[in-house]
Amino acid sequence: ARAQIGVTGLAVMGRNLARNFARHGYTVAVHNRSYAKTASLVADHGDDGDFVPSESMADFVASLARPRKVVIMVKAGAATDAVIAELIPLLEEGDIVIDAGNAHFPDTRRREAELKAHGLHFVGTGVSGGEEGALNGPSIMPGGSPESYEWLGPILEDISAKVDGVPCCTYVGPDGAGHFVKMVHNGIEYADMQLIAEAYDLLKQGLGASAQEIGEIFAEWNKGDLESFLIEITADVLAHVDAETGNAFVDVVLDRAEQKGTGRWTVQNALDLGVPITGIAEATFARALSGSVPQREAGRVLPAESGAWEISDRAAFIEDVRLALYASKVVAYSQGFDQIAAASAELGWNIDRGAMARIWRGGCIIRARFLNRITEAYERNPELSLLLADPYFTEQVGQGVGAWRRIVAQAALNGVPTPAFSSSLAYYDGVRAERLPANLIQAQRDFFGAHTYQRIDKDGVFHTEWTGDRTESDA
Ligand code: 6PG
Repeated sequence: ARAQIGVTGLAVMGRNLARNFARHGYTVAVHNRSYAKTASLVADHGDDGDFVPSESMADFVASLARPRKVVIMVKAGAATDAVIAELIPLLEEGDIVIDAGNAHFPDTRRREAELKAHGLHFVGTGVSGGEEGALNGPSIMPGGSPESYEWLGPILEDISAKVDGVPCCTYVGPDGAGHFVKMVHNGIEYADMQLIAEAYDLLKQGLGASAQEIGEIFAEWNKGDLESFLIEITADVLAHVDAETGNAFVDVVLDRAEQKGTGRWTVQNALDLGVPITGIAEATFARALSGSVPQREAGRVLPAESGAWEISDRAAFIEDVRLALYASKVVAYSQGFDQIAAASAELGWNIDRGAMARIWRGGCIIRARFLNRITEAYERNPELSLLLADPYFTEQVGQGVGAWRRIVAQAALNGVPTPAFSSSLAYYDGVRAERLPANLIQAQRDFFGAHTYQRIDKDGVFHTEWTGDRTESDA
């Protein structure tokens, strides 16, 4: 048994991860349900390094040096459970099973407990960066026991993306923490994509700009604070011309966004935790709205009552959109990090948010220059309760608040939907407010359901006899 790590499930992500391990000098055991994929990996990419192919799961496991490290890269869900069930009787105490798929973290918690009972380590790990990242260096978010990370960490750090020589991989926390953080990463990815889409729509509708022109604006933005993978690919996509029609490619793509579910999970979990992740939620619902075909067909008759949009200073408008995009983006991250903090506190995960920002700087879909600033913010104050209130971000976002308000107001006046821009601004004004109208909500609740309220001038919980003489009593 000489393989240092094994990969089972050789669809594109598994294949590329296996190649990445091999390219870093590891002897890699490879296995797939149908042998054809294993054979073609070795035939096509044998010169990447040292592969040990096996037809059966038993031979695959036998080819691994102990403690065995088996990476499962299959479709999240039932397939993962089936592979685990096959592996359990073949493995021995101390072996490490790594699930690198987009698993839902409650499943990871269940599997971790199950494998622990067998004396095995289970590492649920987020892997971001798509096919390209898997091959050339992804961002890796491993959970599980600290002990398993001692064995596994160096290998994963080795194959991960590097930024300034620092690996985009670190131990996240126990059981489901790695997959949880990957889930929130994807939620932020949804928000980021929606915000970019709204910026594109504003430029298109406000300026009547072509895809080509908007692509140039994004390319310009990518030179500044907004520099990121998603802005870069947006510029690239907008410049692309459809071969068949000769039109801009985006103009021939159907406007219905799909999803595989990680954004939905993020929002569901945030509701359970009571954390307002409005940017991610609006982004997820915006995808749902785009796919609400009967409603959209029926909705075409709705009156707009909006005027013709005339923008006199194009350059100023473009700069306003840029500032609004940046500010809304900070809100989405601020909310996502709140969710990580809340789950970490509830489940005892002890997640270091600054470290998460650090491993998202490279390799992953949301990689961006400004993640450096987020890491710095949490280094300044590891207990930071609101990322927006870090002095750097307070100043940066503060400079754009006027622009943000103008953009949201103009969008509303001109009938352009900007759910993520608008809700992010509402969140900003909400957390900033000295006093929110929640006082009235509490009074109403007490009125119709004796749900009680607290007072601003003394401690305690109170109830007013609304139907009687309206005296107040301690509840
Ligand atoms: C990544 C991506 C990856 C995948 C998303 C797409 O980090 O590499 O997030 O996980 O592309 O799951 O999600 P939707 O299909 O839901 O848009």
